[in-house]
Amino acid sequence: MARVLVGITGGIAAYKACELVRLLVKGGHEVVPLVTPGADRFVRADTFLALARRSPADDLYAHLTQADLLVVAPLTANTLAKLAHGLADNLVAEAALAHRGPVLLAPAMNPRMWAHAATKANLETVRSRGAEIVGPDEGETAEGEWGLGRMAEPDEIYRRCRKLLGESDSLAGRHVLVSAGGTREPLDAVRFVGNRSSGRMGVALAEEARKRGADVTLLAANLGVPVPGGVEVVETPTAQAMLEQALAHGDADVVLMAAAVADYRPAGVSDEKRPKDEEAWNVTLEPTIDVLRTLGERRTNGQVLIGFAADHGERGLARAREKLERKRVDLVVYNDVSREDIGFDAEENEVVLVETDGDRRVGKAPKHRIAAAIVDRAEELLRERTR
Ligand code: CTP
Repeated sequence: MARVLVGITGGIAAYKACELVRLLVKGGHEVVPLVTPGADRFVRADTFLALARRSPADDLYAHLTQADLLVVAPLTANTLAKLAHGLADNLVAEAALAHRGPVLLAPAMNPRMWAHAATKANLETVRSRGAEIVGPDEGETAEGEWGLGRMAEPDEIYRRCRKLLGESDSLAGRHVLVSAGGTREPLDAVRFVGNRSSGRMGVALAEEARKRGADVTLLAANLGVPVPGGVEVVETPTAQAMLEQALAHGDADVVLMAAAVADYRPAGVSDEKRPKDEEAWNVTLEPTIDVLRTLGERRTNGQVLIGFAADHGERGLARAREKLERKRVDLVVYNDVSREDIGFDAEENEVVLVETDGDRRVGKAPKHRIAAAIVDRAEELLRERTR
């Protein structure tokens, strides 16, 4: 999830910045609004905080927040001059001095002000320091003049933000279903049989697919990490819930079953807590339904189905190859859990992408890099499929 500082300065176009904040939040980004007193006369700072789902208490030093992108929309001639000369007398100007990273400016002003030599010189100065400019557009201004000066439309500014954040549209219009975490199968009203999966890998996959413009549904089984923004999250705490929801979303273009789904669950579960006694507690475990296999059997043409295998060493790799056939999937991501430094509940991973035509090794890297390699391959398979 990227963090974006959105500076709003005092122009009538401030009302359009509401839509920009909404689009950024919907796209899964954390937005920190910085509203100058001039902008507050047009649209109250509270409006932006509400749209960004932040409380004023979050933001004592909001302007000094380290962020992936600073966007100023609208940018008045006055604030442009401040940025060009390094003044720091409002939140946005201060943020611009403190921020390290891409800057996107969306000027909005009267056409004669825009055409003035001073504005042009200021623009050249900020541009030469690396700031990108979006707009202004030609049209009728609020005061009824015609010319260049209207702020670019929010969707255009949003598109440029996504580009600066390294996002793409390669999966736009595609539905990607990801499962993450580990299921917990109840033993009684309070106890369960579970596993150590944190959900980090699945969450990284969901995030990666969202960055590429996909509509993402995340089947979340007891995640130990925060859910990413901009994706639909469906809680699936047990193997049965996972099965039901996977089938309900079974028409996805790409399915990435990264969750550690229990192969067995306790039979005859009591609704109450089992009291302690001196006897042994013998539990019978019954098999669960294999979600991936069920999807493999039911899949219609075109869907890319990817499974995961957590196993030990070379023998595990051989079993992953066998899973490819048995579960009728396109690819199995093999994860060697005999190693302590990767896989379960770790920050990094190293995997082998197992397909019928051979293996592709993805070297040790943070999980978001591994996720990008997996989604790259899913995209290739999707393209081959729909060619
Ligand atoms: N999986 C599933 N439903 C289950 C069990 C597993 O969908 N009830 C999925 C996992 O999400 C994973 C893949 O199947 O994508 C492989 O899981 P794994 O437990 O490694 O495979 P198993 O079929 O259980 O094989 P084994 O335990 O013999 O290695």
